[in-house]
Amino acid sequence: MIVRVRTLIAAAAFAAAASLPFGAFVAAQEPDFDAPPPPQLFGIDLGISVYRPELGNCQLCHGWNGLGGNAFEDNAGRQWDPGPSLVDSKMTAEEMIEMISCGKLGHSIMPQYLEDAWKPERPCWGKTTADVPDTERAGLWGAPLYPDEIEAVVLWIQTAYQGKVFSLEHCLLYFGAPDALGCNYLR
Ligand code: HEC
Repeated sequence: MIVRVRTLIAAAAFAAAASLPFGAFVAAQEPDFDAPPPPQLFGIDLGISVYRPELGNCQLCHGWNGLGGNAFEDNAGRQWDPGPSLVDSKMTAEEMIEMISCGKLGHSIMPQYLEDAWKPERPCWGKTTADVPDTERAGLWGAPLYPDEIEAVVLWIQTAYQGKVFSLEHCLLYFGAPDALGCNYLR
């Protein structure tokens, strides 16, 4: 059901994004909701929506500008470190995909986002649940991501954060509003 809803959103976004000359072409096509959404959608826009609070909520720990989050205390009074700056990350895209899919091995709050990760058919760093006890794995995030969504968020990280100077253009894209107050410091 989630797939279906997301596919519908994706199809609507695709139709909206298509500029007028292509509008007729899009309208003439019978939508096939069982087909994978067009590749264009697995781009920056999808990556941003994964990063924002609605889906992956990466910004909670890594900051909306990728500079890292603020330390916080949980309900049990434990102190948690925020996520590190993604601007300073030295990881390749493949390493990021593995990290986001699996979560950080060891005692870390970097969650696992791929539901099937650590299973025999999708090992993480060559290991499965049989090799690594639950306590050594960060838990699965409440709203797991699809592999395409993970690829898209890495694209966004590498476009706007990693080794980059976060620009006004990136900021406006992230907030999706030309008058976003959070971007004032970049004006
Ligand atoms: C609850 C906090 C939290 C959330 C939510 C979270 N992260 Fe993390 N993330 C961390 C922490 C903490 C680390 C550091 C892990 C370590 O090395 O100990 C990390 C590490 C990473 C790294 C590796 C950076 C490096 O170079 O070492 C990437 C990439 C990353 N996170 C991406 C994401 C993405 C994308 C999302 C959302 C889909 C996300 N994170 C959500 C806390 C979080």
